Amino acid sequence: MTLGTEVEKTRPHQSEGDVNFSPRRKEWAAKNIDSTTAALLKRDANAFLHQSVSSPCLNSIKSAEGAYIIDGQGRRYLDFHGNNVHHIGYGHPRLKAAIAKQMDDLSFAPRRFACEPAVELAEKLAEISPGDLSKVLFATGGSDAIEMAMKVARAKTGRFKTISFWDAFHGAGFGASSIGGEQLFRGQAIGPLLPGTEHVAPYACYRCPYGFEVDANGQPNQQVCKTTCANMIRYVLEKEGNVAAVIAEPARAVPYTPPPGFWKMVREACNDAGALLIFDEIPTGLGKTGRLFACDHDDVTPDILVMGKALGGGILPIAATLCRPELDVLGDYAIGHYTHEKNPVTTRAALTTIEIIEDEGLVENAATVGAFALERMQDMKDKYSLIGDVRGRGFLLGLELVTDRDSKEPAKDEAEEILYRAFDAGLSFKTTMGNVLTLTPSLITTKEQMDFALDVLEDAIRIVSSR
Ligand SMILES: Cc1ncc(COP(=O)(O)O)c(C=O)c1O
Repeated sequence: MTLGTEVEKTRPHQSEGDVNFSPRRKEWAAKNIDSTTAALLKRDANAFLHQSVSSPCLNSIKSAEGAYIIDGQGRRYLDFHGNNVHHIGYGHPRLKAAIAKQMDDLSFAPRRFACEPAVELAEKLAEISPGDLSKVLFATGGSDAIEMAMKVARAKTGRFKTISFWDAFHGAGFGASSIGGEQLFRGQAIGPLLPGTEHVAPYACYRCPYGFEVDANGQPNQQVCKTTCANMIRYVLEKEGNVAAVIAEPARAVPYTPPPGFWKMVREACNDAGALLIFDEIPTGLGKTGRLFACDHDDVTPDILVMGKALGGGILPIAATLCRPELDVLGDYAIGHYTHEKNPVTTRAALTTIEIIEDEGLVENAATVGAFALERMQDMKDKYSLIGDVRGRGFLLGLELVTDRDSKEPAKDEAEEILYRAFDAGLSFKTTMGNVLTLTPSLITTKEQMDFALDVLEDAIRIVSSR
């Protein structure tokens, strides 16, 4: 049997919508891609190994500025995706100037040499993060930062097992893929992953894995729910025994926010079982949900908090693993020790990004404009039965489309059509699980830009609904 047929046989479920070559994607490309762009797409497709949600590409990009991207043919899109790196907008002039100056002052720090920006960033993260999280390690990507957290948890507890959520994404490395719960990153073609990486069903109130229903406002029914999803984590911690850590996103990127009290219950269960709690705030950290950290909403402090993505201001790659001081137990080993661990330029970028977020009041903006958006999305739900659920916090927002509100049949085809209609109208976003319009705007997005985006979506939803 050839490798080709083996891979073919094990094609994984797609967790996103705008992937591969659906007829609609082909149709959009045929109408919108000129010969120059097509030539670049062809070179891209020839040069890169093909992989889901990456290559081949749909379109080309020429520039990105503020909340917008501009494609190879000069069309502007308000970017409500941005891979969650664009908190401060693309190409922020203050960040570019700080990076340029740092490159002049000191462009690299070889090991054994401490440098000012790296130390300052470590101190700043300790200052702004919740509780006593104060010892830090840096890496160049979120996946590596997650794996450093896993190593620290193993060393501290003397255990190796973890509990995480199905459907979660924590990065593409073998450790991160092992705790992740998306087939795309752990299907049969990838082979064996880490042992002891147990999974439980995530909180997902609209489609509760335990079968409970939400009320008309999409909230869990407190009488019947009793936060079963948190109790299941306690149950597995006890039955499995010797678990090093529970690892999860405090607000899921799908998006789903936790039912009230969920994280407090999980925190207690971890304490009782001697397991650490690790929060992956790679997309949500630094203000996405309208608080500096998503876990601030729940008033729960993890033992380790992992950040990345927007930390580099959308220009440079940097991620961080923040630990409580008593987790400083691996001094004789190398946990990450990455080449660019204490790079003065990436750490300067992160410091300046945090300063910009503070000085421009971007967390407050995400909270205010996000609340306005949620209200308008609720109004849209009242008008269109295609919208089954509206949810989110700050600038982590989602509209879940269903063909029927009772059966909750995912309206995947409709979601895809709306995606391409939105591109035509100048809005970019992504669909999750095929039928959730997932909106993660830059934190600089104004109320007017939000209104524009929701106008575009409402128009598309109206057209699609009227058939
Ligand atoms: C929740 C979460 N964790 C981890 C990662 C991995 O980060 P990186 O792509 O920088 O390795 C991502 C990236 O999308 C993410 O969304």
